[in-house]
Parts: sequence; C-alpha cells; structure tokens
Amino acid sequence: MNEFYQKDIISIKDFDKEKLEKIFASTDKIMQLNSVERREICKGNTLAYLFYEPSTRTRLSFDSAMASIGGNSLGISDITSSSAQKGESLADTVRIMSIYSDVLVLRHTLDGSSRFAAEISDKPVINAGSGTEEHPTQAIQDLFTIKKEKKKIDGLKIGIIGDLKYGRTVYSLLYGLGNYDVDVRLISPESLRVRSDSVYEIKKRLSYTESTDIEENIDELDVLYVTRIQKERFPDEEEYLKVKGSYVVGLDLLKKMKDDSIILHPLPRMNEISTDIDNTKNAKYFEQAEYGKHIRAALLGLILNKNGF
Ligand code: NCD
Repeated sequence: MNEFYQKDIISIKDFDKEKLEKIFASTDKIMQLNSVERREICKGNTLAYLFYEPSTRTRLSFDSAMASIGGNSLGISDITSSSAQKGESLADTVRIMSIYSDVLVLRHTLDGSSRFAAEISDKPVINAGSGTEEHPTQAIQDLFTIKKEKKKIDGLKIGIIGDLKYGRTVYSLLYGLGNYDVDVRLISPESLRVRSDSVYEIKKRLSYTESTDIEENIDELDVLYVTRIQKERFPDEEEYLKVKGSYVVGLDLLKKMKDDSIILHPLPRMNEISTDIDNTKNAKYFEQAEYGKHIRAALLGLILNKNGF
C-alpha cells in the first residue's frame, strides 16, 4: 500500500526528505503522462473544497489538478453564500462535506483549523492554509520548483524576504527546507521577523541569519523567495502602514544577484516584485504556480489510490 493513501496533509512537519522525494518523483511521473493516461488516476473521485478565506491559485489549482486526473470538484469558495453565514459550525460543515466527497481541501482563518477538521472528517483533509500557521502544499510546490529550476536543493543559499511574521507559506517552507542542507537568510523589517513562538521549532530544523537589509550579501543567493505583506492579518492598520512597501525587488537589485539565481513568490503579488522582472530568466513565480497544479494532482493521486499510480 502506498504510504499516502487516505492520509491527511496538515503540516509539512509530517514530511521527511524521503516522503518529499517520493512526492517529487510522483509529480515528475504525472507530468510525463498524456492527458488520457492522466485522467485514469482519479476517475470518479470527488474533491470538496471549503474556503473561509479568498484564494485564486490554491483553489483553482486543486480544481484543475483534480479535473486533469479525471475527478471532479465541488465546494464553497465564498463562505458568505453558505450556511456558515447562518451560524453553522465548522465541525458540522466539515461533516456534511465529507459525505459528498472523497477528499476535503480546507482554507481557514484559524491556526489549528485543519487539524480540527481532520479529526471530524471521515475523509482525508488537505490543509490549504490555516491562519498564519501553515500552507503545506504550497511549500511542497516551492521545494519542487527549487529542485526543478536549480536541479538540487542541498547546498543552496536561500533568501526569504517580506512578511515573515504572518506569512504562513514562510513557516511551511522553513520546516520543509529543514530536511535539506541549505543556508537560509531571512530578510524583513524588524517588526515582521519570524514569530518568537516558532523560532524554537525552526531552529530545531535549520540555522539561519536575519537581516533588515535586502542588499546585504544579495550576490550570494541562489534563490530569493519574496512574500506579500499580509495586510489582512495586522491587528492594527497603523502597523501595516509603517511596513507597507518595505521592499521592492526590481531590475537594479536583480543586477546585483547571481546570473543564475531564481526569484520565487507564492503569489498574489502586490508591488514587492516589479513587473519588469517578469520577463527575465530569473523570474520563476509563474512556473512555480504551474508546478503547483502538478504536485496537487500527484498528491491527490497518492491519497486516493491504495497502490499509487
Ligand atoms: C498565499 C497564502 O494564501 O498564504 N497564497 C497562496 O496560496 N499562494 C500567500 C499570500 O496570500 O500572500
């Protein structure tokens, strides 16, 4: 039996290097199949999505991933049009949606929401973003992108810049990178450094340096992972205004970087990467979004097929 069969995906912390490499291998395999072969993988399966926060890529990539492997999707992308608006609990909503589907994809404002849903659901639950805590499938996609574009992960120097306090993709990426031998540099305004309650967990897995200066040793980085300032998570708008637009990655900065460095972003981008960068060979954020569809197809294929595919 394949080890991912009927398993939840709640935290990237549950994935060691071996598991990640198996998912990457399955993703490579799925990318080589033709569309007819691909559609056999989850023929007749249904994915249900339940999104309490806005999303473009994550929801649609799950949707298109499921369609590409022959399954279908249904769900709630705008919670204001569901019974949650009448006061229905997350527990009841999850229970009902798991009746209608084979796998559930949840995005919610609260940390711990996916773990809670997994305890209630009869069907496997995939965390598509839980508060400021984690976004594991994004991190698997980010690691896969690095591997594809740089041909390796071990030995790389990786800068992560922006909102390291509230950005859940940052936490999942850091935990995931902990499986590899990487040199990590965290760059953020003082007030947006990684949360002190997570520092222990991160330091258990990897060592990193911190800086507020984007230019410091920028010429050494192989990967620059840029994140959006998470405006909606600031308890106080004044605090947001102080850090808004702190960093903009533009052509002037790119010139100082290694010729073969890559720039990633989980998207959506506000103004932290100038659009001038988009047509350079270093910009890989759109490829990253495309890989996301394939890794999600592979994950669904593994979760829903006893013997894999
Ligand atoms: C991210 C998220 O929702 O955490 N988006 C995504 O899924 N690609 C990043 C963000 O919103 O800034």
